[in-house]
Amino acid sequence: MNEIKPEKWRAPSNIALVKYWGKHGVQLPMNPSISFTLDKAYTETEVLFLPDGERNIDFLFEGKEKHGFLPKLQQFLVRIEPYCPWLSRYSLEISTSNSFPHSSGIASSASGMAALSLCITAFEAKMEGTLHDLNKASTLARLGSGSACRSLRGGFNLWGACPDVSPSSDEYAVNLAQVHPDFLELQDTILLVDKGEKKVSSSLGHKLMDGHPYAGQRFLQAKSNTSNLLKILKMGDFMALAELMEQEALALHAMMMTSSPHFMLFMPSSIAIIRRVMELRAEGLHISFTVDAGANIHLIYPKVFSTEIMEIVQHELLVYCHAGAYLCDRVGQGPIDLNT
Ligand code: DP6
Repeated sequence: MNEIKPEKWRAPSNIALVKYWGKHGVQLPMNPSISFTLDKAYTETEVLFLPDGERNIDFLFEGKEKHGFLPKLQQFLVRIEPYCPWLSRYSLEISTSNSFPHSSGIASSASGMAALSLCITAFEAKMEGTLHDLNKASTLARLGSGSACRSLRGGFNLWGACPDVSPSSDEYAVNLAQVHPDFLELQDTILLVDKGEKKVSSSLGHKLMDGHPYAGQRFLQAKSNTSNLLKILKMGDFMALAELMEQEALALHAMMMTSSPHFMLFMPSSIAIIRRVMELRAEGLHISFTVDAGANIHLIYPKVFSTEIMEIVQHELLVYCHAGAYLCDRVGQGPIDLNT
């Protein structure tokens, strides 16, 4: 009998420039979103597929059993069943670890769901003797966590049907080929203002957009920002990118501040950093920020300004970080097949 080999993949996290906030149906976005894939923040996942007809799941996170993740995993497996009916005949032994600390405030659902989906679609392709379908991997990842579908390829990815890009889809993300080379070297220094657990889960956050008084306008704004960002990415105009990206980050938080119930996720230190970034840019420096549903600030800037900006981080901004913690990342190349 052949030895059963595990499937092993590394998948990166991503940071959205146009934000996904609001969904409908089964994990379908209310507006298109665009992100870039990170390089150093990733998850590595190994899955052993055992054809025993039992459907048991063993889940190890960094070598230890983690029961808290099982409900999300079960929900994911139910959602992907129509796409992978063969899975119901298998027990899965899943072992996963992150390159970044759990307490760092970096969401691991994007990289985690992307890595797990790649294990499933790669195993399926080998079993069926077909080509590995990354659009299918992205579709599965979306069913685990929306933003995860943008983590299947390097560079910049668009999720959501968009008249300017063909093909594009609400079901999976596509890679954007027309990106200025300078933008493929963008840096992302993540200032860890708050290392605690998320104050509002993204699932709850998305629900807050149902019946939100400003939802309609927000979805129109995101659609128009998507079209504009596509042009900016081609041109490589950093100052235009900065304006658009900051508007998106602040609009996301404005939605949370004006929903019912409302949330204020910025900490005083987040605001201090944002104000300083705005001042520095008004002085002509190529620096900008974005924020996800949390307090940590992502400083986004061109590689040529790295030395100057890291000096500002060290001398002015580290005081705002929890225990002086920050992570240096940049645009990454996408997932890595760890089976060879
Ligand atoms: C603010 O992808 O975490 O990071 O689909 O419920 O898992 P679920 O939500 P999730 O939402 C991410 C929201 C965001 C913006 C973004 O990444 O586009």
